[in-house]
Amino acid sequence: MVEPGAVDLTALPRDFCWGAATAAYQIEGGAGEGGRGPSIWDTFSHTPGAVLGGDTGDVTSDHFHRWREDVALMAELGLRAYRFSVAWPRVQPDGRGPVNEAGLDFYRQLVDELRAHDVEPWITLYHWDLPQALEDAGGWPERDTAERFAEYAAATVAALGDRVRFWTTLNEPWCAAFLGYAAGEHAPGRYEPAASVAAAHHLLLGHGLAVQALRASAAAASGPLQVGVTLNLHPVHPASATPAAQDAARRIDGMQNRFFLDPLLRGRYPEDVRDDLAATTDFGFERAGDLATIAQPIDMLGVNYYFPMVASTHAFPGSGTAVLRPPKGPVTAMGWTVEPDGLIEVLRRIRRDYGDLPVYVTENGAAYDDQVASDGAVHDDARVAFLAAHVNACVRAVAEGLPLHGYFVWSLLDNFEWAYGTSKRFGLVRVDYPTGRRTVKASGRWYADLIDRHAREAPVR
Ligand code: FCB
Repeated sequence: MVEPGAVDLTALPRDFCWGAATAAYQIEGGAGEGGRGPSIWDTFSHTPGAVLGGDTGDVTSDHFHRWREDVALMAELGLRAYRFSVAWPRVQPDGRGPVNEAGLDFYRQLVDELRAHDVEPWITLYHWDLPQALEDAGGWPERDTAERFAEYAAATVAALGDRVRFWTTLNEPWCAAFLGYAAGEHAPGRYEPAASVAAAHHLLLGHGLAVQALRASAAAASGPLQVGVTLNLHPVHPASATPAAQDAARRIDGMQNRFFLDPLLRGRYPEDVRDDLAATTDFGFERAGDLATIAQPIDMLGVNYYFPMVASTHAFPGSGTAVLRPPKGPVTAMGWTVEPDGLIEVLRRIRRDYGDLPVYVTENGAAYDDQVASDGAVHDDARVAFLAAHVNACVRAVAEGLPLHGYFVWSLLDNFEWAYGTSKRFGLVRVDYPTGRRTVKASGRWYADLIDRHAREAPVR
């Protein structure tokens, strides 16, 4: 591990983007307010047994009411950028048709407040909260959902495109498709392998259509938008030299990484993955022209990096895709191994296989069982060490010439960690759920110092 103070920032250009990330369902609360409709995560979290402890996002970090205070905290930390998601059911309560201006107003105010504090807003259009009405009509396995997503993208950019430059279509379509429709661990909690592959295709198609809608927006007249997509990428290694382990690693890498990277950046699905999936689906959902739509040029790729995978056997799909070797080194409270070198490996691979596309680490961070000291402080030294090691990996990546332009910590705030509810804390800022009170953790102070030090030490190029 890197000593927290030992990160050498001199390789990073002055405009390297330091941010923090959140997602609507995980932090907003205000579930029934402002004309918001229900999403699949409302339904799922209210299903007995679906989420640890029966937690829901009804209130969670209460950002819907505390957004001003949260922006003030971002400014206090010196964040350059804030990545958040727009809740589709706030904009279109039923997922289609007329927009709910009250929902858009919430984001207009938030964005204006961010700008007033010199924090660059980064919007993610889809961080998993599909309007329930669209799921009732079949959800992502239906092609119409991709069309609806493009309509929602067009409505949102029409409202916010004059003041938001950075746009991400999807967050981690792997999770939305395979945890949601195959493994049943995420909303909508379905166990349908064939439908999950159709869902993945329609998410990708929705991305392509949304990129077209964003590019076509007149609201963007004030300057070109920067448009991209965020994937969760993992290095995948075989647990041993056996042919079975090697094949498992190829398959898992195929489903986890290449099934998304290849259509987005090469305009085709990997042949070996098509073959692997032959018993599951005939790809009858794919129409002529879809792959060209999916492979629209993008301006940046978002990478969410948490941990590498070590494969010994393979079972399709869902989180069961990787049968992991028991971790050897340190793990976080999620049981995820701490391997900062895996981040560089992912970035090298993107450049080697897909070219020089600008990349941002749009999420990286760690859950730990934070303790509150008697004076109320949170000395989360393990998180500081984790972040320092990963920032250091970013510095090394830039020093070796990889096109990395920014880093966002997951997460600004403690929040609703999906199926784990509020039991897992990732924040730079602690949230006391009964009162909503915020406390900047030691990691938040460390990050603020890092950003400040970089601003002072970075060479002008
Ligand atoms: C990612 C999600 C994010 C958060 C982190 C821990 O997969 O994008 O919402 O839950 O994991």
